[in-house]
Amino acid sequence: MHARIIGTGHYLPDRVLTNTDLEEFVDTTDSWIQERTGIRERRIAADGQTTGDLAEQAARRALEAAEIDPATIDLLIVGTTTPDVVFPSTACLIQQRLGLGECGAFDVNAACSGFIYALSIATQYIEAGTVKRALVIGAETLSRLLDWDDRATCVLFGDGAGAAVLEASEEAGVMSTHIHANGNYGDLLKVDVGVSRGFTEGPRGGLKILMKGNEVFKVAVNTLGRIVDETLAYNQLDKHDLDWLIPHQANLRIIKATAKKLDMPMDRVIVTVDRHGNTSAASVPMALDEAIRSGRVKRGDLMLLEAFGGGFTWGASLIRY
Ligand code: UT7
Repeated sequence: MHARIIGTGHYLPDRVLTNTDLEEFVDTTDSWIQERTGIRERRIAADGQTTGDLAEQAARRALEAAEIDPATIDLLIVGTTTPDVVFPSTACLIQQRLGLGECGAFDVNAACSGFIYALSIATQYIEAGTVKRALVIGAETLSRLLDWDDRATCVLFGDGAGAAVLEASEEAGVMSTHIHANGNYGDLLKVDVGVSRGFTEGPRGGLKILMKGNEVFKVAVNTLGRIVDETLAYNQLDKHDLDWLIPHQANLRIIKATAKKLDMPMDRVIVTVDRHGNTSAASVPMALDEAIRSGRVKRGDLMLLEAFGGGFTWGASLIRY
């Protein structure tokens, strides 16, 4: 049995924040942001609009595309590092709103690799035969973790959600998933505030993203190079067999480095970072949905999904669409 993608969807909040908008209240420039990251604009959730709200809309679109009764979903996993509340999980918060039955529902926190991690779990259940249909979501409101006085981070991130419905099938689908982590790098990218420590006076109790961008960049390029090699070797494929690269959208320079390693022209690489910024766990499923809905990725195409993020966590998946 394979886990086959039968529907995808994504949702972006309405509010667009451009680089020029940022220039008005942060010491930055549109040209710096575009040159160093490839980002032109990002979406910001409205006041009161939660990660669960975004996830719900993305999931509705994926379920609609899959043309299935939501009650037939056996498993719901949400990759997120910005859950609405500590618990219930975001998955539990949206399960009934989506009309799912009493299926297993939980969140996975693997930062930017959250969707790849969630996809890998759902795939194992489907391949084992215990789940027939799974709904996998990556959803984030990273804007809530931004220090708008820190130009090194606040220009990078955005909000959004992406979703995919997987179904057990004898036809090819997810060919392999690979996940890794190395907690030794935890200090380079973190939100150092939680239930047990770190709360301070001030906005959101001190919740904010801290990142040593330059160091993260170097490890990201190197690690993504290794994970794509691992994925191809596991499947005994050559890089030239790939039709599409669907990368995590953190920085266009990182995406180009991975594409170069795979000898892939940029027109075979799905890029959304220019319009979405870095949406963490939402970035890969949003790019996947854009690629499918725009008609670029077609049934039978071979695509490589990859992600890298806080933890550090990283992962990849090879999928025959
Ligand atoms: O998704 C999870 C994984 N995350 C990532 O993969 C992010 C990885 N890192 C990056 O994408 C890049 O490192 C950044 C985009 C964050 C930064 O780019 P960089 O080329 O590594 O720049 P830098 O941090 O080395 O900073 C270069 C200069 C510094 O000024 P000095 O010290 O050279 O005078 C910064 O202060 O750019 C300055 N700078 C800015 N200038 C204008 C930093 N942020 C800004 C800004 N606007 N927003």
